[in-house]
Formats: sequence, structure tokens, C-alpha cells
Amino acid sequence: MVLDALQKIKAEDDSSLSYRRSCREGICGSCAMNIDGTNTVACLKPIDASTSTPTIITPLPHMFVIKDLVIDLTNFYQQYKLIEPWLKTTKVPEEGREYRQSPADRKKLDALYECILCACCSTSCPSYWWNPEEFTGPAALLHAY
Ligand code: SF4
Ligand code: FES
Repeated sequence: MVLDALQKIKAEDDSSLSYRRSCREGICGSCAMNIDGTNTVACLKPIDASTSTPTIITPLPHMFVIKDLVIDLTNFYQQYKLIEPWLKTTKVPEEGREYRQSPADRKKLDALYECILCACCSTSCPSYWWNPEEFTGPAALLHAY
């Protein structure tokens, strides 16, 4: 995967190279970057087997860059916090202790809870590029929904 190539470069060629990574299996979202024009997570992006053209790796677009591939996600996380991304209810639990969830109710959350907050969607959205202060972006809207 492209993340392995970055690890090799950092280990053998340039220890100052900076990028985020943690799980290396597509669940933490921290290795998001732009690879050959597409926002994606580097740990799930296979290395292009063709050596005829270079692979172009850049930070997620239209974000402030802290260093190399590390971007400032402060605004992204503040927007996530702003929409209060948790389930709310006005009822008290039936037994006074625990909110029971039926399989049918749980199913309603499918495709809404899997977001790994990689920021690939928001940073590829032109409305987010031009109005990051006013528009919360697709990731936060998904959680708001
Ligand atoms: S919804 Fe956006 S931030 Fe969440 S995993 Fe998908 S691309 Fe990443
Ligand atoms: S290192 Fe966690 S998603 Fe890539």
C-alpha cells in the first residue's frame, strides 16, 4: 500500500517526512491524503504497479498544512463537535438504567455510523473549500442526520 511506501521513505531516506497514521487498516482515518488526484486513505491504496509514471501524493486539498502531509483538522473537528453527533432521546429508560435498542432500530443506523472521520469527503467538496466557516461539510452533515 502507499502507506508502506511512505513508511519506507521515512525509515530509509528522510526521517523528517511527516504524515499521520495509526491503524494501517482503514479504520482510524488518520492517513487520509490525496494520491494521484483522489482523496483516500493511504493504507488502503495499492501502490501503482506501473513505474512509467510517478505517483503524486499531496495533503488533503484546500486545508492549512502543518507539515508535509499533515493538515490542520481543528475546524473539521469543531464542526463535528458543533452538531452534537450522538443519539438523543426525550424519554427516560424503561427500567431507569439502560436504553434498549431493537435490531430494527439498530438497522436504521447502517451507513450512518461507519464514518472514520478521514475528512476525504469534506476536503474534496468545493462548497467546503470556499466556505469552511459557514458550511459544516458532508462528514458533519452525515452525523447530524
Ligand atoms: S463520510 Fe467523509 S469523513 Fe466519513 S469516512 Fe466517509 S469520506 Fe471519510
Ligand atoms: S492508518 Fe488508519 S485509516 Fe490508514
